[in-house]
Amino acid sequence: MSFVLGIPRKFKYVKVDSLNEALELLREGSKILAGGQSLLPLLKLRILNVDTLVDIKNLDLRGVSENEKEIEIYSLTTHNEVASKVKLLSKVAFTIADFQVRNKGTIGGSLAHADPSSNYYPALLVLDAKVKVKSKKGEREIKVVDLYISPYTTSMREDEIITSIIIPKKKELNFTYEVYKRGGSAYPTAIVAVAVEGNKYKVSFGGITEKPILFEGEVESENTIKNVIERLREEKIISDIHADSSTRLKIAERLFVNAFLRASKGVSDQFNIPAIENKWKSEVIRGEEMVTVKMKVNDFEMEDEVEPRTLLLDFLRRNGYKEVKRGCDEGKCGACTVIIDGKSVKSCLTLAVEVIGSDIKTVKGLSDIKQLKESFLENFAMQCGYCTHGFLMVTYDYLKRIGKRDDDELLKHSIKNICRCTGYFNIIKAIKTSSSNQ
Ligand SMILES: Cc1cc2nc3c(=O)[nH]c(=O)nc-3n(C[C@H](O)[C@H](O)[C@H](O)COP(=O)(O)OP(=O)(O)OC[C@H]3O[C@@H](n4cnc5c(N)ncnc54)[C@H](O)[C@@H]3O)c2cc1C
Ligand code: FES
Ligand code: FES
Repeated sequence: MSFVLGIPRKFKYVKVDSLNEALELLREGSKILAGGQSLLPLLKLRILNVDTLVDIKNLDLRGVSENEKEIEIYSLTTHNEVASKVKLLSKVAFTIADFQVRNKGTIGGSLAHADPSSNYYPALLVLDAKVKVKSKKGEREIKVVDLYISPYTTSMREDEIITSIIIPKKKELNFTYEVYKRGGSAYPTAIVAVAVEGNKYKVSFGGITEKPILFEGEVESENTIKNVIERLREEKIISDIHADSSTRLKIAERLFVNAFLRASKGVSDQFNIPAIENKWKSEVIRGEEMVTVKMKVNDFEMEDEVEPRTLLLDFLRRNGYKEVKRGCDEGKCGACTVIIDGKSVKSCLTLAVEVIGSDIKTVKGLSDIKQLKESFLENFAMQCGYCTHGFLMVTYDYLKRIGKRDDDELLKHSIKNICRCTGYFNIIKAIKTSSSNQ
C-alpha cells in the first residue's frame, strides 16, 4: 500500500445535529471533529487514524453567556469569537496562530487537545476556570487545573465532550498575559499569565515545560519576583529545535517580570476587537465511501463525488480553481486560503464534506476586492506571485471584519502567511495603504 503525504487514512464521516447522537457515536476508534485545526494535521500526517469522525460543528454550543458570578463560553466558540466577546480573554485568544486558524479553531478543541503551548491553559489556570463535560452517563465539572495531565492527554474519558468553559468573575482582578512566538503562525515558545487580586497572586507558565506550571502566593513586591524565578529554575524546561532550555527560561523570566509588574500596578491586558460571528452550520450528512458534495464556488453551483477524507484544497483545485495554492500543506503558510461563508479559512485544514452547502469565494468571485488588488500591484507586493492569492484572501477578511489597518499589534497577530520570496515589507505597505473602503 502506498503512503500518500497529506491525505488522511479513510474514515467514516458523520455530521451530527444533536449532542445525544454525538455521545452515542463516541467509542474506541471515533473522534470528535470541532475546528479540525489540530486534529486534521495529525490525521494528514497519519500520526493518528480514526474509524469515524464525528463532526459537532452544527451543535448549539456556540457563544457566551454571563451573569454577575461567572462567564460561560460554549465549547464551539471560535478563537476569534472568544477574542471579540470575552474582554478578559481578548489578548489570549487573539494571539493564537493567525486570523484563519482563529476563524475555525475552537476553545473546547484547544482544551481537549492539550498542547503544552496552548494559549488558553495558563490564562484559565490563573483565572480558576473549570470545564463542563457531558457523556451518556451525565454531566460533570472538571477544574482546568485537574484537566491537563500531560501533553495531548486530559483527565476526560473517551466518551465525554466538553460543552462549556466557566470563568468565575472577580471584583478586583488584574490580569496580564505575555506570549513570545517565533515568526509566522508558530505555536508560542513561552507564555506567562498573571492574576493579581488584592494581595494574592497566581502565575502560570505555558510552552516551557511539558505541563503548564501554576504558582500562587501573597504579593511581597520584589520578593515575589525573586521567589517565582527561583521556583521556575527548579523546573525541567523543554529544549527543542525552536529554543534550548536556557533560552526558553530567559524568555519566560523576562515575560514574567513584565507581566507581574504591570498586574501589580493595576494594569489589565485587553485587545479591542470588534464583534465577530463565525457561522459554521451546514448540511447534516453521514458518509462512508463516497459523498455527494454540493457547494457554491464564486456563485457557481458545483457538485462532485468525493471520499470523506478529501481536502477542500484538492476538491477546488481538481475542479479548476487553480488560484488556490498548495504550499506547506500543514496549515502554516496560508497559500491555500479561501473565503467560506464570509470568513478566511485554510482549505488544506478543511474537509470538503465539512462545508457542504457553503458559499466559497476565491479572488475571482469577490466583487469588492478591486482596491486591495490594486494596492498590491502599485506597491509591488509580489514577486513570483505564488503566495499572493492567500495574502489577498486573509487581508480581505481582516479588513472587512477588524478593519484596523494601522494597528500594528492586531495586524501582527492576524496576517501571518508565508511569502517564500520574502516580500513582507511591500505586502504590509500594500495592506496599510489600500483604500479604507475595502
Ligand atoms: C498553524 C497553526 C498554528 C497554531 N498556533 C496555535 C497557538 O499559537 N496557540 C494555540 O493555543 N493553538 C494554536 N493552534 C491550535 C489551534 O488553536 C486549534 O484550533 C486548537 O488547538 C484545536 O481546536 P479545534 O477546534 O480546531 O479542535 P480539533 O482539531 O477539531 O480537535 C482537537 C482535539 O480535541 C478533540 N475535541 C474537539 N472538540 C472537543 C470537545 N468539545 N470535547 C471533547 N473533545 C473535543 C478532538 O477529538 C481532537 O482530539 C495552531 C494551529 C495551527 C494549525
Ligand atoms: S496553509 Fe494550507 S498549504 Fe500552507
Ligand atoms: S511572491 Fe513569491 S512566494 Fe510570495
